[in-house]
Amino acid sequence: MTQHRHATITGTGSYLPDRVVTNFDLEEMVDTSDEWIRQRTGIVERRIADDDVATSDLCVHAARWAIKNANIDPLDIELILVATVTPDTFFPSTACYVQKGIGAKNAAAMDLSAACAGFLYGLDLADGMIKSGRYNTVLVVGGEVFNNIVDWSDRSTCVLFGDGAGAAVVQATDEPKGILASYIGSDGDYSDNDLLGIPAGGSRMPITKGVIDQKLDKLKMNGREVFKLGVRLMPEAAQRVLSEADVSVEEIDLLIPHQANLRIIEAVGDRLGVPREKVYINVDKYGNTSAATVIIALDEAIREGRAKPGDLLLFVTFGAGLTWGSTLLRL
Ligand code: ACO
Repeated sequence: MTQHRHATITGTGSYLPDRVVTNFDLEEMVDTSDEWIRQRTGIVERRIADDDVATSDLCVHAARWAIKNANIDPLDIELILVATVTPDTFFPSTACYVQKGIGAKNAAAMDLSAACAGFLYGLDLADGMIKSGRYNTVLVVGGEVFNNIVDWSDRSTCVLFGDGAGAAVVQATDEPKGILASYIGSDGDYSDNDLLGIPAGGSRMPITKGVIDQKLDKLKMNGREVFKLGVRLMPEAAQRVLSEADVSVEEIDLLIPHQANLRIIEAVGDRLGVPREKVYINVDKYGNTSAATVIIALDEAIREGRAKPGDLLLFVTFGAGLTWGSTLLRL
């Protein structure tokens, strides 16, 4: 292993579908209100992909921006990791469709399933692959089209999610920057689909007419339990990378938490002791885009000048599985 080899993000990109669905639009579909959604979640609107748009379509747009911003040739990419729970198809992988879309002929490509924690799982793997000397350039993408897996008649879930994608080019550097610490974890004891998941459509319960009639092919969630777990697990994960890197919370320039719910984001920031002005929030505009939230947020933060070269960024996510992760990054 090369001694001073680090993995750093050299370019980011994101892509959101044009179609905006507001809370008022949802009032027309289910028994809900703009006031309830804002108060309980902080969400004002979300983007929803058109019916003929798949996850890889969003990922390709995001990846092209990341490649342009990193100033690399797609042929430089050696590995493509796409984090998603809404793949275009079971197989081929969404990553292979993305590879085709961006012309990254020299890459190996695969999907990664870790729900909302997926992007940080991808970043952790890219970090390990680069530090080991195996690869120099990895493309990590988080993308989702939740539109098709959401039960649009279930007010307790349909108001929460949105579609979108983000991408990062991760490259080797000898400079003392990039990923300073990374941690990912899971607890399969929480894999019960009623907590958070889709019961049917896989090998356990194939799609049948009965499954469709009972909507078992759609997302189920016990929101209250997931809320409590998120508020506990995200600060724990973040504390772990801070202590591993021997960095105090005061040194953090920007906290980029998973964008699921404003109340969860604020609770995580408060528990960590990060002041509100250092917490990045865009859940109001996009809802929960699952594996895409933190990388869409980073790309926006860079474009807005809220994340600048040299800044210390702390990411933290959690999702179905349960899965969670945290990354400390010097941009
Ligand atoms: N509009 C109006 N009323 C609603 C709605 C709605 N959209 N949804 C639920 N309600 C009602 C409920 O029926 C309930 O009514 P009742 O008291 O008559 O029974 C009442 O509002 C309160 O419901 P709760 O579920 O207790 O509301 P809570 O304050 O917990 O908020 C929410 C629900 C927003 C889902 C919250 O629990 C949450 O955000 N949980 C975490 C979700 C999350 O982070 N998911 C992503 C995980 S990441 C991944 O891997 C996908």
